[in-house]
Amino acid sequence: MENEKEYLYSLLPERSAFLKDLRRVSALSESYAPIISRDTEQLLVTLLAAKRPSRVLEVGTAVGYSAILMADNLPPDSRIITVERYKKHAEIAVDNIFRVGYQEKIRVIEGEAAEVLTWLDGGFDFIFLDAAKAQYIEFLPELMRLLNKGGLLVSDDVLFHGMTGDDGNVVRRKITIVKRLRMYLDKITHDPALETALIPIGDGVAVSVKK
Ligand SMILES: C[S@@+](CC[C@H](N)C(=O)[O-])C[C@H]1O[C@@H](n2cnc3c(N)ncnc32)[C@H](O)[C@@H]1O
Repeated sequence: MENEKEYLYSLLPERSAFLKDLRRVSALSESYAPIISRDTEQLLVTLLAAKRPSRVLEVGTAVGYSAILMADNLPPDSRIITVERYKKHAEIAVDNIFRVGYQEKIRVIEGEAAEVLTWLDGGFDFIFLDAAKAQYIEFLPELMRLLNKGGLLVSDDVLFHGMTGDDGNVVRRKITIVKRLRMYLDKITHDPALETALIPIGDGVAVSVKK
């Protein structure tokens, strides 16, 4: 092994042929949004195995990779709602979900999450937040309403390419995103209703439990 990251990656389990292909195609296509990193996906799968949620909410579907990954690792009667504002991504996700036969298990809602979250019914045991990073702080009140007590809120990319934790890495045009991500992290680490761990894998993952 050349380095520790390579070693840790070598221990990650293989995913289905469909997901492996989707990851490969996503990396090649400029019109696809980035998908969850392989170490973060294993954290997600591990948390799902511990929690066994019956209702899952995802904010930020892209082409459906993480939604399909979660569906692969949930009990058969569990349901996922995933929200995507970009029509082209939502359409590709629906097609991918159909191709793996999960149309009963995963519902894609095309729309702006800030609006969709306001009318969704609560009762989610698990929320995966992976949308525009500057909006995490705006989504939080609705996410808290939607999450059950004891439920998990997993927020991806919170370290934002090393910018959140280090002013020296901040690119000028990303300053607002970084400020808003810092507000979000401050909130979820100090809110007495949450217990939060910040995990520096992938691009940084926050795992919060609603108390
Ligand atoms: C990083 S990608 C999601 C990757 C996906 N979770 C995966 O790992 O396969 C972020 C996606 O969130 C969508 N998005 C960003 N902000 C959003 C918002 N406010 N409402 C709905 N979708 C949003 C983007 O269009 C993009 O497709």
